Order: sequence, then structure tokens, then C-alpha cells
Amino acid sequence: MPRILSRVGGYKLQGPLALPRRYRPTSSSFPRTIAMRIGVPLESRPGERRVSATPDTVKKLIAAGHRVLVQQGAGLAAAQTDEAYAAAGASLGTAQQALGAEVVFKVRAPDSAEIAQMRPGTVILGMLEPFNRPGLEAMNAAGLTAFALEAAPRTTRAQSLDVLSSQANIAGYKAVLLAAATYARMMPMLMTAAGTVKAARMLILGAGVAGLQAIATAKRLGAVVEASDVRPAVREEIASLGAKFVDVPFETEEERQIAAGVGGYARPMPASWMQRQAAAVAERLKQADIAITTALIPGRPAPRLISAAMVAAMKPGSVILDMAAEQGGNCELTRPGETVLVHGVTVIGAMDIAGSVAADASSLYARNLLEFSKLIFGKEGQFLLNREDDIVAACLMCTGGQIVRQ
Ligand code: NAI
Repeated sequence: MPRILSRVGGYKLQGPLALPRRYRPTSSSFPRTIAMRIGVPLESRPGERRVSATPDTVKKLIAAGHRVLVQQGAGLAAAQTDEAYAAAGASLGTAQQALGAEVVFKVRAPDSAEIAQMRPGTVILGMLEPFNRPGLEAMNAAGLTAFALEAAPRTTRAQSLDVLSSQANIAGYKAVLLAAATYARMMPMLMTAAGTVKAARMLILGAGVAGLQAIATAKRLGAVVEASDVRPAVREEIASLGAKFVDVPFETEEERQIAAGVGGYARPMPASWMQRQAAAVAERLKQADIAITTALIPGRPAPRLISAAMVAAMKPGSVILDMAAEQGGNCELTRPGETVLVHGVTVIGAMDIAGSVAADASSLYARNLLEFSKLIFGKEGQFLLNREDDIVAACLMCTGGQIVRQ
């Protein structure tokens, strides 16, 4: 049985870690037959189309005893109408009402205007950027209890709430479509009376969730695919999707150990290995028509895998789509959020790709939040902070005026 350490939301606080009074929800208007009031605001970040709850998850939250307050129009860009939310049992309201709920479901980290509308003691969950210290400090200063789902461990139990996976999966798919739409040739081989069209050659750097989905999508479109990753564990997954693994053998035990990563994530490789990888990538890029780069190392700038010289040596008409643009990019010439043409090569600094598939991205994301919320709601639906749960503990950023994220 998990040990209950504290409760908020109208229930009596218990235990040594109970939140001080000033961080508890203040309104006495929350009817106690309702477990928690959950707010679903319209995302305020420009261009963000996703929504943190769908009519499907709203229905489940209501069945669990919660009241859900959806800001009018919150789901429209993700193909979810106000009518559908209302039919699922949600109340529709203003931003102030949604942000004024006891628990706020978000896609993106709140900006200062949103934080200003939340009361001390509000529980907020979403992709809250655990490595963004100023953002974290702002949420903490406002007395929020914040859970950043990106920080969840990569364990079997956490799979259903893994927002990085659900969004990377979609982004990997869409990245291939974006690159293919930019590329001035066909993907599959075509033999026609008017001549033969060669299959596109695609190089995918980084074969995590996004990279593997990119491989699968590229194969479905008929491209010839090669892929590389620092973690040897993915060699078989790459092969099973019908792509060729670009091998960069390890020369020392240290290289091998670092490459194994930690907690499923890659670590920065020694310079010696990076140089050999660069040589292999440079060779593969000369043959490639499209390169999709996805390599990331948590909490660090994206590793540089493609130099300006490598781009210059690519065939004119080639396309690089850099999915790591938000973390600085895997390609030296990437301009985050922009598409540039250099030496005849189009370099796409793609941002927020998953968000462009807003309906499906929201469905999966909303499901992730629903699953996570089950870990922070007790039997009667009240908020329970159980720090002994490894997922809850990993995602907890701040509570009771204290930053707990190191
Ligand atoms: P990520 O988005 O952090 O990184 C993308 C990929 O870049 C990773 O595969 C990484 O190894 C690779 N990379 C880093 N440096 C590189 C370099 N210099 N050259 C080439 N590739 C480089 O990773 P993602 O997609 O979040 O997945 C990380 C791991 O977590 C994977 O092993 C995945 O299978 C595992 N995972 C486990 C889950 C679970 O058990 N719940 C859920 C999702 C993922």
C-alpha cells in the first residue's frame, strides 16, 4: 500500500509533508461530492494546436468523480468541438475559470500570464520543461504543485503516460512526410514507359522513438533507408524495420559503456567515437537524398552530427530535416523554425512537428495525462502526493513553495 503523504483539495491534510495553508486551494465553493475540479485551458503558446484533454478522456475523468472545466474553443484546432466536450459532460468556460481549477491539465508550460491566473496550491501537469529553471522557479513562486511528464522514467509501468514517446512517434511520421513534400523527386522506385524513377535514399540519424517511426514511414513510402544510433541496442530494431544499420564500431571498453546509455537515454560520446561517426555520416550523406536527424541527449544541446562541409558535399536537391532543431539542431546549418537553402540543399529546422498532427497528438497526449492523473488521485478522486511512487517522484518539479527537482 502506498503511504499517503499529503492531500489537498478540501480533504484534511495529513502527515509531516502536508502543505502549508497558503498553498492549499482557497475556494470553499468546490462541492465535495466532486473529487477535483480539473481545468483544460486553450493553449496560449503561438502556434500550439494541441489540447490536454479530449472528450474521450473528459468522459473518463468525469466517471472517476471529477468535474472538468474546458475553456471554450480549447480543442478546436485539434478537431475537438465545444459540443463534443459538453456531450462528454464537461462544463465550458473562460480561461480564467479553466486556470482557476484545482488541477490544471496543460500541453505546454504555462506563461507568466497563465501562472498569474492560478492560485497557490493548484496542481498542474503537462510538458512543463523540467530543464527550464526560470520556468520552474516561476511556477514554484506561484505556489503551484507541478508535474513535468517529460521527466517520467522510461520503464514498462510508465509507458502509458510517456509523453515523449507518444509525441515523438507522431513527429517521426510527420517528419518524413514533410521532408518528402519538400524533396523535388519521388520516394519509391517507379518503372514507367517514360522512364525509370530511382527510389530516394534516406539517412536517419538517431533511432529512438522518432527515428524508428521515421524509418517505418520512409520504408512504407518506398525509400531505401539507412540509420545510425549511438546505442547498439537499436541495431536489431533498425534491421527489423528493413533499414540498414550504419555501424560505427567501438574501439574501447569506455566507448562501449558510454554508448549503452543510462535509463534508455544516450550520453555524450567521447570525441574519438564522434569523429569516426562523423566520417561514416559524411560518406552516407554523399549518397543520401534525404537526411532526418533526431539525435538527442536529455538536458543538453543536441549533438552535432552534420557539419557545414558535409552539407556542401551533398547532392543538390537533397533535404535535411532536423528534428533536434529545438535543442540547437544536429546540423550546423540548422536555423530553428526556419527552412534554408544552402549549397542547393534544403535544411528544415523543424519545430513542434507533433503539434502539426494536432488531433492524433492530442488524443495520445490526453491519454498520457489521464494515465498520469491516476497516480496522483486517490480512491475518492482527491489529490494525493505519493512521493514513494517512482513516476510521481520523478515528475514532481515543485510543491509547497519548494523546488524538488535537482
Ligand atoms: P531521445 O529522443 O532522447 O534521442 C533520440 C535518439 O538519439 C536516441 O535513440 C539516442 O540514442 C540517439 N542519439 C543520441 N546521440 C546520438 C549520436 N551521437 N548519434 C546517433 N544517435 C544519437 O530518445 P527517445 O526516442 O526518447 O528514446 C530513448 C530510449 O528510451 C530508447 O531506447 C527507447 O527505446 C527507450 N524508451 C523506453 C520506453 C519505456 O520503456 N517506457 C518508452 C520510450 C522509449
